Amino acid sequence: MIAFVAREVTGSETRVSASVETIKKMIGWGFDVVVEKGAGAAARIPDGQFANVGASIGSSDAAGLADVILKVRRPTDAEIASYKSGAVVIALMDPYGNDEAIARLAKAGLSTFAMELMPRITRAQSMDVLSSQANLAGYQAVIDAAAVYDRAMPMMMTAAGTVPAAKVFVMGAGVAGLQAIATARRLGAAVSATDVRPAAKEQVASLGAKFIAIEDDEFKAAETAGGYAREMSKDYQAKQTALVADHIAKQDIVITTALIPGRPAPRLVSREMLRSMKPGAVAVDLAIERGGNIEGGVAGEVAEIEGVKVIGFPNMAGRLAASASALYAKNIVTFLETMVNKEARTLVINPEDELIKATMLTHAGDVVHPGFCGAKKGDS
Ligand code: NAI
Repeated sequence: MIAFVAREVTGSETRVSASVETIKKMIGWGFDVVVEKGAGAAARIPDGQFANVGASIGSSDAAGLADVILKVRRPTDAEIASYKSGAVVIALMDPYGNDEAIARLAKAGLSTFAMELMPRITRAQSMDVLSSQANLAGYQAVIDAAAVYDRAMPMMMTAAGTVPAAKVFVMGAGVAGLQAIATARRLGAAVSATDVRPAAKEQVASLGAKFIAIEDDEFKAAETAGGYAREMSKDYQAKQTALVADHIAKQDIVITTALIPGRPAPRLVSREMLRSMKPGAVAVDLAIERGGNIEGGVAGEVAEIEGVKVIGFPNMAGRLAASASALYAKNIVTFLETMVNKEARTLVINPEDELIKATMLTHAGDVVHPGFCGAKKGDS
């Protein structure tokens, strides 16, 4: 079995899909591991560290021999063309709205797995990339906000006068939002948060932040069986907007993290709301890659909108490339382990396994995931 760890070629991706620890594991299970030259450079893992634990360092051509390809991002067309038919590719496939790209993976005969579709069940907790990456993104959002905020975060009582604590409002209290709350609290901010799921209320309170939401019947039913939010009705959104508008006007920093699986991110902060904020206010839009929660946010920039600095960095977890890679590598290798027969030293894909069912996008020339079957191989 040959495994190939690719150097990421998409945009400014800094993360890598393997660590020294995970390569050791793969070799122990019988893999010959080839790491593409420079794959770990942006995550501060020199080739030599991979080589020291037994990996070979190769060029991108080595991907053509691999039975398993580990990546962070969905492979590009050029990468796909270099893989052999039947290879297993595991990555963040960003499948929603990308039917044509998925069809091309099928056409190339690849067995592809989307890590972001991993079910949130106990068995798969250590494979949960959404959690591992969102947790870091929530932390980094606060660090980035603090860096451009031209006041102190904690209350400081000094002989020269008192600096008030910054008021931080976190919109969306899932994994990223809860970490943002905890981080902002550690920096001494006065923190409040909102969400549409009732379960979030207690979690927000347990972190010492104030919970603000329209708690009507729709709110009570907003959480799906999978633990995610539903898209809220127009009526609810209008009530939420009115409540939030008043609150935002009093905030120094707003961090938005709201997502709905498979849908564009809900628009939560309007230009008018930004205009109501204090001079020097800061906003961070963690949903920027999915259309953004904040009106006018610009991907990759700190945009000055209505006097507010709106941070729209995509791939926030990638700003912590070393930490994010270590966790992502662990997530992906734990999933790979479920497909390895260690005695026979072979790969076995069990289509009845619930993890395989949930994550397998393409196999044997077809798009096999029920959620993406619109993406037929002939589409491309
Ligand atoms: P996410 O990344 O899909 O969304 C972020 C947050 O935005 C969610 O809390 C969501 O309710 C909220 N949101 C959506 N629309 C909103 C709106 N209009 N206004 C305000 N907030 C809005 O969510 P994430 O972080 O993936 O977490 C989803 C759930 O999964 C949470 O309950 C989390 O605790 C749970 N979870 C469970 C795990 C498990 O192993 N059982 C592991 C990780 C998370």
